[in-house]
Amino acid sequence: GADVQVDISAIQLGQMIRVKWRGKPVWIVRRTPELLESLSVHEGELRDPNSETEQQPAFAQNEYRSLKSEYLILVGICTHLGCSPQHLVDGSFEQYAEGVAEGFFCPCHGSKFDMAGRVFQGVPAPLNLVVPPYQYVDDNTVIIG
Ligand code: FES
Repeated sequence: GADVQVDISAIQLGQMIRVKWRGKPVWIVRRTPELLESLSVHEGELRDPNSETEQQPAFAQNEYRSLKSEYLILVGICTHLGCSPQHLVDGSFEQYAEGVAEGFFCPCHGSKFDMAGRVFQGVPAPLNLVVPPYQYVDDNTVIIG
C-alpha cells in the first residue's frame, strides 16, 4: 500500500534521515538526550508549544511530539507555503534563535522550527510541522502511514 516501512537501526545519535511517504518528504531524527532536555528551554518563544492545534496524531501530542522521545518523525514541508526547511545543526541555528543550537529553517520566508517541529513566534508559518501517522512494529522498524 502507501505505507512506508523504515529500518531505523542504522540512524546514529543526532543524525537525520529522509524518506518519501505519499510523495512527501518525511524526516526521522534520532535526538540526543541533551537535545531532548533543551526543548523546554525556549518554549516561551514558540507559537504553540503544546501543539494544541493538533498537527500530529493523538499519540504524539506530548512534550516531544513523538511516540518514542528519541525519534522525531515529521513531514518535511513548511506549514507556510510548502517549501522544504533546512536542518541546521551545531550552533548554526543560533543566528535565527538565540541560544537554540539546532532547528529547522525555511529559506523561502524565514520560518523557523525547533527540534520537535514547533514553530517559533514572529514568522509566517502559522502551524507546527506536521507529525504523520506512524507505528513501531519492533524496536528497529517504523511504519509511516
Ligand atoms: Fe516556509 Fe514561507 S514557505 S516560510
